[in-house]
Amino acid sequence: MSTSPHPRSHNQDAALGPKSRAEFERSKAVTPGGSMRAATYFAPHPPYAARGSGPWVTDVDGRRIFDCANNFFSLIHGHAFPPVVAALHDAIDRGTAFGLPLTGESDLGEELRRRAPRLEQVRFVNSGTEAVMFAVKAARAITGRPAIAKIEGAYHGAYDHVEISLDPTPDNWGADRPASVPYAKGTPRAVAEDTLVLRFNEPQQCRELLQEHAHRLAAVLLDPLASRAGMVPASVAFCEALQESCRKPGILLIMDEVISFRLASGGAHDAFGLEPDLVALAKIIGGGLPVGAVAGPARHMAVFDHTKGKPAVSHGGTFSANPLSMAAGVAAMRAYDDEAVARLNRMGDDLRQAANMAFSQRSLPAQMTGLGSLFRLHPSTAAITDYRSCYQKAAQKTAISAIQFGLLERGYLLTPNCSGALSTPMTDADIRDLTAAIVEAVSETRSANSW
Ligand SMILES: Cc1ncc(COP(=O)(O)O)c(C=O)c1O
Repeated sequence: MSTSPHPRSHNQDAALGPKSRAEFERSKAVTPGGSMRAATYFAPHPPYAARGSGPWVTDVDGRRIFDCANNFFSLIHGHAFPPVVAALHDAIDRGTAFGLPLTGESDLGEELRRRAPRLEQVRFVNSGTEAVMFAVKAARAITGRPAIAKIEGAYHGAYDHVEISLDPTPDNWGADRPASVPYAKGTPRAVAEDTLVLRFNEPQQCRELLQEHAHRLAAVLLDPLASRAGMVPASVAFCEALQESCRKPGILLIMDEVISFRLASGGAHDAFGLEPDLVALAKIIGGGLPVGAVAGPARHMAVFDHTKGKPAVSHGGTFSANPLSMAAGVAAMRAYDDEAVARLNRMGDDLRQAANMAFSQRSLPAQMTGLGSLFRLHPSTAAITDYRSCYQKAAQKTAISAIQFGLLERGYLLTPNCSGALSTPMTDADIRDLTAAIVEAVSETRSANSW
């Protein structure tokens, strides 16, 4: 722990200073819950960020935090990456938004196609939610069918249909075949009826369900490393089952690579050997600015073509393909070259291997899953294959919150469910320190609680 950003202490003050507390109180007056984003919240409140540089964030109390959340895995180069900052300075001097197209959108489109030739054409939007929504709308328009299938527990943003069965419980998830469980209160029943739910890594059941529902399915939506479904990779057998079951009846395969695009230069579909019909992208492709994209073969992307009258799917967006997101995205993606991808993936392997070895040597009931530069900590040793096998009981949820907070006390930020993403400014020494901190926080929590 030689590079631990601040000395270890066993109270909340080690993690949260008075200025963060005051900011939280101030924020509660203008936003429900005192925070603009549910995902960033954890009790009693998160620290408020003041600035960032490389892998470090400095909060408003002046504490340095080693950032593994990286704005929910969107900062592949950490904070204030000099090529992104330079590109932004250059772009901002020329204006921030125009009611006209700009050359930057072709620059980023070409960069994506160079890396992943299957992404022949692209439409940019402002978030992963929109990217998934437009991919689903495109699939409906292409196939003329209304329904989609998604994986139980997988997160794909806030579009109604893809929120189905995001957080089902043993009481309602269905014993045999997965039930379609609404997420937001008030979700229309028709939304659940038009969303078929599949269990991750269950190839046989997937084949049966897709065959049975083929006549009404426009698309299957797959994130091959769904964080909330365990952050375990889709098995070869599951990928084969999906691809084959889609191909014959003409169900489109939409891959959500909003997080997993980082796994290979050519994206997750390249890493998993899949041939998606459409791909939803976001996060790292914007270099730290708001972005999303739907991309794929030109024959499918033609549904968005507005030059021959009303398109099958009309797509716009006041800030879609804005010059700042395009400039930052090009700079970030060009710097995330083959060498950087390989190095980050190797560092992720090292982290998972070292942490899992330490848990086993110390008989700690924990494990780390993930792939490449993405990782998630689970408070169990049971094999994790899908959402149900990583479903946490109340004591396990409490333990994960305590571990996450224990890490913050040690100066490390993970997301509230203890997942994280590495960034290129991190070093091997950082990964060793991170591993030690994680093992220490798990060990300390285990001494105080049993789960
Ligand atoms: C796999 C996946 N898809 C879609 C989204 C939605 O992206 P955004 O938050 O940009 O709307 C997320 C966000 O975390 C995600 O993880």
